[in-house]
Amino acid sequence: MFTRRFTWELEENAYTQAMAARRKSGLPVFDLTIANPSQAGFVWSCEELSQSLVNSENSFYAPEPRGLLEARKHIAQYYHGHSADVLPEQIHLTASTSEAYSWVLKLLTDPGDEVLVPVPSYPLLEFLAALECVETRSYSLRLKDACWRVDAQALEAAVSPRTRAILCVSPNNPTGSILSAEDRDILRRVALRHGLVLIVDEVFLDYEKNSDDFSATPLSSLAGEDKVPLLALGGLSKLALLPQMKLAWIVTAGLESWREAALKRLDFIADTYLSVNTVSQNALGIWFGQSPILRHIVQQRLYANEKLLRAWCCGNPHGVRLLEREAGWSAVLELPRGITEEKFVLYLAKHAGVFIHPGYFYDMPVAMPPVCVISLISREQELSQALPLIDEALKHH
Ligand SMILES: Cc1ncc(COP(=O)(O)O)c(C=O)c1O
Repeated sequence: MFTRRFTWELEENAYTQAMAARRKSGLPVFDLTIANPSQAGFVWSCEELSQSLVNSENSFYAPEPRGLLEARKHIAQYYHGHSADVLPEQIHLTASTSEAYSWVLKLLTDPGDEVLVPVPSYPLLEFLAALECVETRSYSLRLKDACWRVDAQALEAAVSPRTRAILCVSPNNPTGSILSAEDRDILRRVALRHGLVLIVDEVFLDYEKNSDDFSATPLSSLAGEDKVPLLALGGLSKLALLPQMKLAWIVTAGLESWREAALKRLDFIADTYLSVNTVSQNALGIWFGQSPILRHIVQQRLYANEKLLRAWCCGNPHGVRLLEREAGWSAVLELPRGITEEKFVLYLAKHAGVFIHPGYFYDMPVAMPPVCVISLISREQELSQALPLIDEALKHH
């Protein structure tokens, strides 16, 4: 009776159950997995947000598949700030980056086709693909000089006759790695050689480690690509700390002939759903203008938490190691060999109320020591209270 495009167990897994039980018990909880900025204390003031939504244009509905031109102009301007020439005509608004993924997969694939996904990376990619009846094949990123890099051989080896696209996440979640010039060359070469499209998720583009310095050059986006067919995805969830406003986008880039053909087809897909609300589109300019202040506060927390973790690792008797981060919101920590990630995170959740993500959740390489991932947007006090509890748990493993 139901679709077979996904067959996952829909019951809560042992970890989710342990977290729910701990919350229900009323005992202290230290949630270091938090990814939702609005639940981590980064909220727009109610007054500011309400003000931003007041616009006489909100009374009118223009069913425009790409989204309202004014909103797309603000996004094009955002890309100019990231060294990418993007025209408003190249942009389609969507309700979320996840929806953007579903549209670009509809654009590029047929059931049974394949897309290449980086590992380790954002776990939702597999689900987003499955919901479009698309298979994922992974290409492993390689840890080189403390940075995660694209491995040309692994990428080539993953291509099959059914491959249609290469997905990249830059800055990557959770490794925090940014595609280097060499990585970008490899991706372009492989895409051109096999006639593939690059899909680049840049939702963390504004969180480079040094970008708290307002004079620093913002990271360059891949959306300015003019040769290889490329679809760049971005959105407000991280950029403006507004996941609740449900606004994201797709930039179609590459050779003009390809771009035109892709844009027309995306128009058709977008026109079928028309999922973006008018109020958010009309407020976009204000949100772009004001979000740097909030991002600055986020960056301060990222630095403070990372500093705390570094100091903790330095004096840590168990040899926990903090991996380098180029950008993003996550800290990746290597745990002592011999620890079983699943047992360890379950123990922590049940006995100490500390919630962290195990490395396998992101497909960390099996050859690596066990790994855990901690969200750097966690509240500083929660993190500092949780670290001695993690130390205590390490003694038992
Ligand atoms: C790498 C990455 N892409 C996309 C998303 C989803 O973004 P949105 O809220 O716009 O769907 C997330 C959310 O955490 C993410 O980490």
